[in-house]
Amino acid sequence: METMNGTYILGIESSCDETAAAVVRSGEEIVSNVVASQIGTHQPYGGVVPELASREHLRAIVPVVRTALADAGRTFQSLDALAVTQGPGLAGALLVGISYAKALAFALDKPLIAVNHLEGHIHAVLLEERRKGNHEMQFPVLALVVSGGHTHLYLAEQRGSSWTYQNIGRTRDDAAGEAFDKVAKLLGLGYPGGPVIDRLAGHGDPTAVKFAPAQIKHPDRRSLPTFSQRTRKDGAPAMLEGEPRFDFSYSGIKTAVLRYVEVHNLRAAIEQRRTALAEIGKPKLEDYLAHCDRQTLNLVASFQRAMVEDLIGKTLAAARACGVGTLFVTGGVAANHELRQRFEQAGAREGLPVYFPARPLATDNAAMIAAAAYPKFLTGDFAPLDFSAEAGLALG
Ligand code: KG4
Ligand code: ZN
Repeated sequence: METMNGTYILGIESSCDETAAAVVRSGEEIVSNVVASQIGTHQPYGGVVPELASREHLRAIVPVVRTALADAGRTFQSLDALAVTQGPGLAGALLVGISYAKALAFALDKPLIAVNHLEGHIHAVLLEERRKGNHEMQFPVLALVVSGGHTHLYLAEQRGSSWTYQNIGRTRDDAAGEAFDKVAKLLGLGYPGGPVIDRLAGHGDPTAVKFAPAQIKHPDRRSLPTFSQRTRKDGAPAMLEGEPRFDFSYSGIKTAVLRYVEVHNLRAAIEQRRTALAEIGKPKLEDYLAHCDRQTLNLVASFQRAMVEDLIGKTLAAARACGVGTLFVTGGVAANHELRQRFEQAGAREGLPVYFPARPLATDNAAMIAAAAYPKFLTGDFAPLDFSAEAGLALG
């Protein structure tokens, strides 16, 4: 039952390397939002170590949830429901959040809602738009979910309170964020790579190094009707099994950066940089700049430009083919300044509204999980207490 002053949902997220809890009112107001990052734990390894992630989640989950409630000024009893990420993600990490959420729901006798992490990223955009007072969306929405583990394109629609999603593109190999992380690691810039590359790219020439666009074999698009030519009964674009897809591929660009490093003999300089930055511990922008020569800055800027252009090109091709009304860009990589700026420019050119989450909601958080749970609360879509983590959970 929705109470007079709204529905308060406690969201819990533990799918990767952030332990997060948040209280969101009626899917639109963030009452509290706590994120405990494990970056410090994984940094020495240059990537997320699953066993360490589970251990850190176990350590953090109780204080993080308590802080989220305290910040919201609410008691456990005053909550209307609990929501938790079911997947996709690291199985052991997901289990920590799920076990705790189940125990809470059972003890409090409150409904428990299982949320797909990718749906959460999409709802981070809706949260931001509702906060700005924008309650009207032009459907269908095309959502690019672009993070460390995922690069997906979804057609999203709303019927009543329910949302439906259809995957029309995904990466064939590395996720875009993974490419940022691997290239940063390769260049001795530490982990995670996205934020560092974002800050350094503005200091290099993005046209200095040319990267060949990724070639992806698709079914022959010419022989198939386009989305705008054929619609479903309800007027929305339809896409069936075996129809054209808008896939991505980022392992090639990573290899191209590696080749550039070898051809230009950058190895020794990279090792020096790695050691110097590790000694500093928490390097600032000036420290990074002091340890990067022009050639490296140009390489970083060119890499980011190529990534941004590829993401935008493929997303806009899909948007045109599907005749979408709105574009969402979300997930950790959506925090990237150049990506946001160039998507905004491209959207303006095409007359297509482009929405992003507020930057802190682009990376993993639990507010997006509590927000995505609200429509499920309204339709009574609750999880049985025997549901479990699904590392490879798909959306749509
Ligand atoms: O959504 P997220 O927190 O976790 C996953 O669900 O994967 O995304 C993390 C990813 C990392 O790969 C990180 O390098 C990337 O997002 N990232 C960025 C930026 N901030 C985070 N990539 C590019 N530019 C950024 N500013
Ligand atoms: Zn994520």
